Amino acid sequence: MQRDGNASQECVLKMKQAASFEANSEVVSMIDKNDLKKRESEAIFQTYGRQDVVLVRGSGVKVWDSDGKEYLDFVAGIAVNNVGHCHPAVVEAIRKQAGILIHTSNLYYTEKQVQLAEELKKLTGMKRAYFCNSGAESVEAALKLTRRTTGKSGIVAAERCFHGRTLGALGNTYKIVYREPFRPLNEAEFVPYNDTEALKAAVTRETGAVILEPVQGEAGVFVADAEYLRAARQICDDAGALLIFDEVQTGFGRTGKWFGKEHSGVQPDIITLAKALAGGLPMGAMLATGSAAEAFQKGDHGSTFAGGAMISAAALASIDVIKNERLVERSDEMGRYLREKLQSLAPREVRGQGLIVGVDLDADCKTLVEKALQKGVLLNNTGEHTIRFIPPLVVGREEIDKVVDVIGELL
Ligand SMILES: Cc1ncc(COP(=O)(O)O)c(C=O)c1O
Repeated sequence: MQRDGNASQECVLKMKQAASFEANSEVVSMIDKNDLKKRESEAIFQTYGRQDVVLVRGSGVKVWDSDGKEYLDFVAGIAVNNVGHCHPAVVEAIRKQAGILIHTSNLYYTEKQVQLAEELKKLTGMKRAYFCNSGAESVEAALKLTRRTTGKSGIVAAERCFHGRTLGALGNTYKIVYREPFRPLNEAEFVPYNDTEALKAAVTRETGAVILEPVQGEAGVFVADAEYLRAARQICDDAGALLIFDEVQTGFGRTGKWFGKEHSGVQPDIITLAKALAGGLPMGAMLATGSAAEAFQKGDHGSTFAGGAMISAAALASIDVIKNERLVERSDEMGRYLREKLQSLAPREVRGQGLIVGVDLDADCKTLVEKALQKGVLLNNTGEHTIRFIPPLVVGREEIDKVVDVIGELL
């Protein structure tokens, strides 16, 4: 009895702590960073190179570590938190749906999944959606759909591209260090990006699809020329190949348009989405149009979790936030401001579209990222001399100023 009493008191205390944590937005943490790092190294496969920080909370453009230190987050979960961390509308949608229905599998119909598919159709101009749980999975789905539609397995991809790390997606990811240990793979033919002649020469009647990122993000932010994408459309049509746009990173306002494809006006046959789709929860989607939209038959593909009710509700809420807060327009405006501001660093080059921005600097950018962390700024370097900025789209001028100033000081 006494024990139960203590247990319920403890429970009430925990609930009060949780409530005050939310109300005060304060974190009183008992986490010992070095102890946690040691436990992580013993319990988790060492596939990630992590920054030296334990993050415990986020709100908007900010995150806090286990010591209560505040950071401006210009990585946004790698282009995931487009609406900012813990946006109240997304939190509320998750909370509400979690109390109604979280998951049922795809053995049954759920309304949220259908609503989300309809919304994505409207936003992308595509005909049908297939849901999955990550970017790599959306690429896998696109590859299977290519085979099913065309009966062909040849893929042409771009040098420097990144399409994920599962075996199918990996075969279409350029970096040899990622591919080499896992060969044999079904590997794409890689051609220089933005080079129409090279693409034309590589695409044959055996090509099932050409896969391109409208902006190459992991590579360090390289933007496709509109003319190149238009030519790619024509080249695919001439060869009877599908055109896949991988918009996992460029989707949902990141480039200053809803999708990167809108900068060229080119409609691909297949589009892959993930990252920002569900406001921070793991979700992917592959959408198709034309004959590709009719090619999958029952049993051709599937996933237990895909398009569950709760995650679909989160995605719908996140899309609403992007619309209501005009984050696509904001991404364009703040992206221009960031690119202009970066000129003050005397860079080698600034590239980007909206709030996916890359800067090449005469500096060791890995060290720069580590030092920026100490100064309360989360950054990401995609190469020795390149920083990629992919902040939440809710970012403001003041925050951009602060981040660029910190980099300026460090340089
Ligand atoms: C363009 C692109 N495609 C696919 C992926 C893979 O996504 P995920 O890490 O969710 O599997 C990424 C991830 O960075 C990406 O940028």
